Amino acid sequence: MADRDSPNALSGQQSDTEQFGVYIHWPFCLSKCPYCDFNSHVRHAAIDEARFVRAFAAEIATTAARAPGRTVSSIFFGGGTPSLMQPATVGAILDAVGRHWQVAPDVEITLEANPTSVEASRFRGYRSAGVNRVSLGVQALDDRVLKELGRQHTAREALEAVQIARSVFDRYSFDLIYARPQQMPAEWAEELKAALREAGEHLSLYQLTIEPETPFAALYAAGKLRVPDEDTARALYDTTQDICAAHGLPAYEISNHARPGAECRHNLVYWRLHEYAGIGPGAHGRLNVGRLDGDGDRYATATEKRPESWLARVEQEGHGLITDDVLTREEMADEFLLMGLRLAEGIDPRLYAALAGRPLDPARIAALRENGLLEMTPAGRLRVSLPGFPVLDAVVADLAA
Ligand SMILES: C[S@@+](CC[C@H](N)C(=O)[O-])C[C@H]1O[C@@H](n2cnc3c(N)ncnc32)[C@H](O)[C@@H]1O
Ligand code: SF4
Repeated sequence: MADRDSPNALSGQQSDTEQFGVYIHWPFCLSKCPYCDFNSHVRHAAIDEARFVRAFAAEIATTAARAPGRTVSSIFFGGGTPSLMQPATVGAILDAVGRHWQVAPDVEITLEANPTSVEASRFRGYRSAGVNRVSLGVQALDDRVLKELGRQHTAREALEAVQIARSVFDRYSFDLIYARPQQMPAEWAEELKAALREAGEHLSLYQLTIEPETPFAALYAAGKLRVPDEDTARALYDTTQDICAAHGLPAYEISNHARPGAECRHNLVYWRLHEYAGIGPGAHGRLNVGRLDGDGDRYATATEKRPESWLARVEQEGHGLITDDVLTREEMADEFLLMGLRLAEGIDPRLYAALAGRPLDPARIAALRENGLLEMTPAGRLRVSLPGFPVLDAVVADLAA
C-alpha cells in the first residue's frame, strides 16, 4: 500500500493561514465530450471576448465591493476551455482582479488548457499575461480511447503540449481519466507509468463518473457502455495509489497527486473551506461577510449558467448571481466534512464541533475506525484511510448523520 505519511505541505502550516481564491469560469468548448457535465457550451459564431471581459470586470467589481480588503492568494481559470481565450483576455481579467483586491506576491495563477497544438501555441502569451501554472486535460495516452472520449487531440499532440507547458511554466499538471470502459489494471499501470515519465510536480487522476444526462449516461443505460465492476475499480484505484506514491507523487486528495509542497493551492482553498469568489457563468463561490466567529455569515453563491443570460444579467445588474444563501452552521459543518475528508491530511474534529455546535458521534467514529475506513493521526486529526477512499461518500454520510 502507498505511504500516506511522507512529509508534505499539508502537515498544517497552510491550513491556519486565511487564503482567498478567485475562480473565473470560461464556459465555451470547441465540442462537447460525451462524458462531461461541466458548464460548457459550443458556439459556432465567434465569441465577443471584449464583451465578456467587460462583464467579468463588472462582476469582479461587485464581488470586491462585498468582500473588500482581501489579498488574493490564488486565481484559477476553469472551464469549459479557458485555453480558447486570447491571452489579452486573460490579461485584462487579471488586471481587473488587481484593480479591486490586493494580489499576494506569490499568487498562484492556473489556467486549464486542452492539449491541442493551437492552444499550446498560446502558452507564452498566457505566461506574459501573468499565468504561472497550467493544468492540461490529457485524459488518456491511447488514441483509440481519446476518440471514444470525444477528444480533439491525439496522445502525441497531448504529450507535445505537455512538453511546451514544461518549457514555458515552472508549474504544470495534467489530468487523466481512468476506470474507463474495459480498462484493466495491468494496462492502466503501463499507461500511468508512461504518464509519470512526462509528469512534473502534480497529476490529477479521475475515475470516470457516468454523469446523468450525458451521452455516456444514455449509452450506459442502453447497456452499450460497460464500466469496470467494483473489484476492478478497486484494483485500478489501488494500482494508482501504489504507482504514484512510489514515484514521489502521493495523493493529497482523493484524485490529486503532488510532490510534497506542490499541491494546487487554489483547490486547497475549496477543500479547507477558505473563502473564494466565483466569477463568470455558472461559477460557485463562498464569501465570508462579517466575522465567522459569531457576527458574520458565510454565503454560498452561484451565477447564471447560460453564457448569454449571464452576460445580460451582469450588464443590467453588475452581477450574474442566481443563488446567494447564508449557510447555516449545520450546512457549514457538513461541508467541512465533505471537503476536508477528501484530503489526506483529514480534519480537526474540534473544528467540526465548533462549527456544528456538537462533536462528531464517538460511537460512529469508533465503528468506522474498527472497519478500517477512518484513522486518527498522532496529531488528533481524523482522516479517511486508503481503503476508505473508494467509499468516501458513504463514510461522510455516516459521520454526518
Ligand atoms: C473542467 S474539465 C476540463 C478542462 C478542459 N476543458 C479539458 O477537457 O481538458 C476538468 C477535468 O475533469 C475531468 N472530468 C470531466 N468529466 C469527467 C467525468 N465524467 N469523469 C471523470 N473525470 C471527468 C477531466 O479529466 C477534465 O480534464
Ligand atoms: S471535458 Fe473539457 S473539453 Fe470536454 S466538454 Fe468538458 S470542459 Fe469541454
